[in-house]
Amino acid sequence: MNATTLPTTATGSLQQEGWTILHIEETASTNTLAGSLPAWSAVRAAVQTGGRGRTGRAWISDQGGLWLSAVVPCPGERARWSILPLAAGWSVASALTDLGAHGLRLRWPNDILVGHRKLAGVLVERFRDDTAVIGVGLNVFNHPEVADPTLAGETARLADLAHGSYDLESLGRTVLRAIRRVHRTLTTDGFRSISEQLNLGWSAPRRVEVTLTGRASRFEGHFQGIDQQGRLRLVTSRDALQVYEPSEVALLREID
Ligand code: BTN
Repeated sequence: MNATTLPTTATGSLQQEGWTILHIEETASTNTLAGSLPAWSAVRAAVQTGGRGRTGRAWISDQGGLWLSAVVPCPGERARWSILPLAAGWSVASALTDLGAHGLRLRWPNDILVGHRKLAGVLVERFRDDTAVIGVGLNVFNHPEVADPTLAGETARLADLAHGSYDLESLGRTVLRAIRRVHRTLTTDGFRSISEQLNLGWSAPRRVEVTLTGRASRFEGHFQGIDQQGRLRLVTSRDALQVYEPSEVALLREID
């Protein structure tokens, strides 16, 4: 990337560990900004004014959180990369655990929770055929419940879970390192090794309520982990095993 392709709002650009990292004070969404950048670029913003979550939800992105988007290459068939959202969530959760945040768990497909409180979320978007943007939102020192009181009791912050010496910049590097590592694993070994580890963490059956994309009705089932393609496996009330792509599921709510 050269100076002419830098977004005009960028306050700094760093070359680190194979990434070109832009820092922006404020933008609508780092994912949108990253969508026009080449592979191995990353954008971190202090504040997002239009942060996006999965399934069209808004993502509160106040000062003190990590709002980061990373562009990775996705060569070959599109379907081969459909597991990227799960792999990215798993890699970020593992990196945060290594940092000292204990008791983290993943809720399918890639929410990172402590108990029932959400610590971080991942939104993967494909703006171009040959790349994907992995957007990571991590509550660190911020207070999302101040901006949105309905989030009171629903969110967790890394600052309350891991007391090491980190700041948003070093956390950004930690997340980018994890993304690069999992991208290499997917490229060389495929999804199998990761899916086995994911399913170990999900081994306890959980009753969930599912809303399918574009449907108003909901149904209950027992979560059975994922298959080799990262698809959700559910046993429904009729004892039938059903399999769903992440894009087919608008909402998965844990009942117990
Ligand atoms: C979710 O759990 O719904 C996903 C949340 C993803 C939020 C991040 S913050 C950085 C990037 N930019 C966005 O607009 N969204 C993602």
